[in-house]
Amino acid sequence: MAVGIFDSGLGGLTVLDAVQKRLPDVPFVYYGDNAHAPYGVRDADDVYDLTTKAVERLWDAGCDLVILACNTASAAALRRMQESWVPRDKRVLGVFVPLIEALTERQWGDNSPPREVAVKHVALFATPATVSSRAFQRELAFRAIGVDVEAQACGGVVDAIEEGDMILAEALVRSHVDALRRKMPKPEAAILGCTHYPLMQDVFQDALGEDVQVYSQANLVAESLADYLTRHPNMIGDGTGPGFLTTGDPKRVSSRATQFLRREISFTAA
Ligand code: DGL
Repeated sequence: MAVGIFDSGLGGLTVLDAVQKRLPDVPFVYYGDNAHAPYGVRDADDVYDLTTKAVERLWDAGCDLVILACNTASAAALRRMQESWVPRDKRVLGVFVPLIEALTERQWGDNSPPREVAVKHVALFATPATVSSRAFQRELAFRAIGVDVEAQACGGVVDAIEEGDMILAEALVRSHVDALRRKMPKPEAAILGCTHYPLMQDVFQDALGEDVQVYSQANLVAESLADYLTRHPNMIGDGTGPGFLTTGDPKRVSSRATQFLRREISFTAA
């Protein structure tokens, strides 16, 4: 039995870590498409082709349910996949909705009309592809009115994290926060709309200041997945997990993953 967790690279490990802690009895298979990261500078067709290939590999590993722990794939490819590609007996879910539910203080699946919410000024930090898709704003508009979202495309941050250059990643985060503040001087909340960014959460919080509430996805997705699996227990596939698959160099990726999660992680070739 296993559930698949997909990301373009190492960022989805932040989600994997949270779901493993929340659901210790569920085996997971992780797929990092490190050879093709970052996705955030690719066009939607490219992201769709790479994401569907990865999800097929996870189906082959016995995962009937795959979580796209990647906002870029969730924004650029998920809707198209769900509309015309995912077979009846499989499910692919993204990471956007749990975050928006939390921001708008709604219960999972609450389909009532959009209403006013407490936070009015929200900063969104995400990859260039996620920002240009406007998927976050679209999902938010279904649930909330009167929220001003200022998006900052954080070019270079994913590349730096994938390379393990955390000094460059920190400098880039600080300059992206400065750029955001020039457009929105006083955000009340900030969304880390890329699963790589929780690896830099302390830097975001420090640069934004303590009075800004920083939302990141890992724990929210873990709660939503636990709820989903209670309602759909048959969606835990027959794969045996745990496993870590990568299209990159397994040795290099294992070493970075071990550094990030502070426990031994061993990837094999996808
Ligand atoms: N972790 C991916 C996300 O959440 C990073 C995308 C990329 O590879 O640029 O968007």
